[in-house]
Amino acid sequence: MTDPQAKTLEKSSVQPLLDELREEALCHRFEVAPNPCVGAAILAGGRVIGRGYHEFWGGPHAEVNAIEAARASGVKESEWELLVVTLEPCSSEGKTPPCVEAVLALGIKQVVIGCLDPDPRHRGAAIKLLEDAGVEVLHIDESAKFEEDNDAFCAWMSPTRERSPRPWVIAKWAQTRTGQLTPPEDVGEGRWISAENSQLEVQILRGRVDVIVTGAGTVKADDPRLTLRGASLGAAPKRVVLDSYLRTSPSARLLQEVEDGEVGGEVIIFTLAGADGARWRALVDAGAKVVGFHGDESGRVSLPDAYQWLWEEGVRRVLLEGGPELLSSHLEKALVDQLRVYTGDVFGGRGVSLGQSLAGLEFTARLDRECAPDSVLEAFLLEEE
Ligand SMILES: NC(=O)c1ccc[n+]([C@@H]2O[C@H](COP(=O)([O-])OP(=O)(O)OC[C@H]3O[C@@H](n4cnc5c(N)ncnc54)[C@H](OP(=O)(O)O)[C@@H]3O)[C@@H](O)[C@H]2O)c1
Repeated sequence: MTDPQAKTLEKSSVQPLLDELREEALCHRFEVAPNPCVGAAILAGGRVIGRGYHEFWGGPHAEVNAIEAARASGVKESEWELLVVTLEPCSSEGKTPPCVEAVLALGIKQVVIGCLDPDPRHRGAAIKLLEDAGVEVLHIDESAKFEEDNDAFCAWMSPTRERSPRPWVIAKWAQTRTGQLTPPEDVGEGRWISAENSQLEVQILRGRVDVIVTGAGTVKADDPRLTLRGASLGAAPKRVVLDSYLRTSPSARLLQEVEDGEVGGEVIIFTLAGADGARWRALVDAGAKVVGFHGDESGRVSLPDAYQWLWEEGVRRVLLEGGPELLSSHLEKALVDQLRVYTGDVFGGRGVSLGQSLAGLEFTARLDRECAPDSVLEAFLLEEE
């Protein structure tokens, strides 16, 4: 039952704040995808004492961050009056506990919600829980604006995706100014294109995916470890190598013990079901899991089958860190949802250029930014119907 003494909420008084929160939450769209962008604020005495946003995939929700910010303001919780949030608080356990419980625990009296939970299984559930607990709830229907802002989330929830689910794939690469992925031999030890700042960003991104995918060509050329290094170590993503003929050496650095200060996830090698048995055993003995798949029309591991397998294993967000061959086959098969492309301050390079493929892509959202001295393109790719 709603408290009859409570001041009645009015749309006109909260709309400007709701608009601001929506706008500010959008800054994080490439970090949270395919989750939606959400902003929240807590008010006391008619003024905002804390704002919070969903900032990255798997991270705390906006309400939780707003609560933390409001606590940091020093205003006593008993004085908190109103929560404004752009999306109905979650009412089910996901990667984080249900936010509606955190809101109820505050004892706050009024909540403004900008949009109902888009998941029909949970739509309106938090509102009911709040109202049953005596909280006055004002729902302002901002669903049209929500859809406009959340291309990634809408694609993720689309009927096409529901019919054939697969993880969200972020293709990340570093290219020279001419679009090549391998620098000239005398630059960056013949291997590095992007600068240290960009490499640090990639470490953070690796910590926010379930799996890193690469190809046998990259493992052969660069012998990468695909680990998380540095201060902000999260859970290590699994490391998947697409390797139709088991060219990966059992002594590859991927399969060595991780070094101090780094974490590395399980190594899984995707190969053809009939691949060489001796190589298969040697890789298993070296610590890899080897999984056999059907071949595609080119006789290589079938990418749709590989992603279906990952989906069934509970993988939801993938970082594709392959070379030009694997990236091109993902782009051709429309298996990329999001891009993060670093263009380094390097001229020329070796190998094919991805410049033309990039120019032919259609984006639903795009951000060009700097990560000095590199430039960075972030984008969502149009979902094929
Ligand atoms: N700048 C960057 O961001 C970046 C990132 C990674 C790599 N690189 C550079 O890229 C170069 C290596 O390029 P790459 O193209 O050879 O490596 P890649 O794209 O990582 O690996 C390609 C290999 O993956 C295997 N593969 C398995 N299934 C596949 C499928 N369905 N479609 C496509 N490939 C499949 C194929 O080998 P099998 O036929 O044997 O299975 C193919 O030759 C190196 O010079 C490396 O330094 C640059």
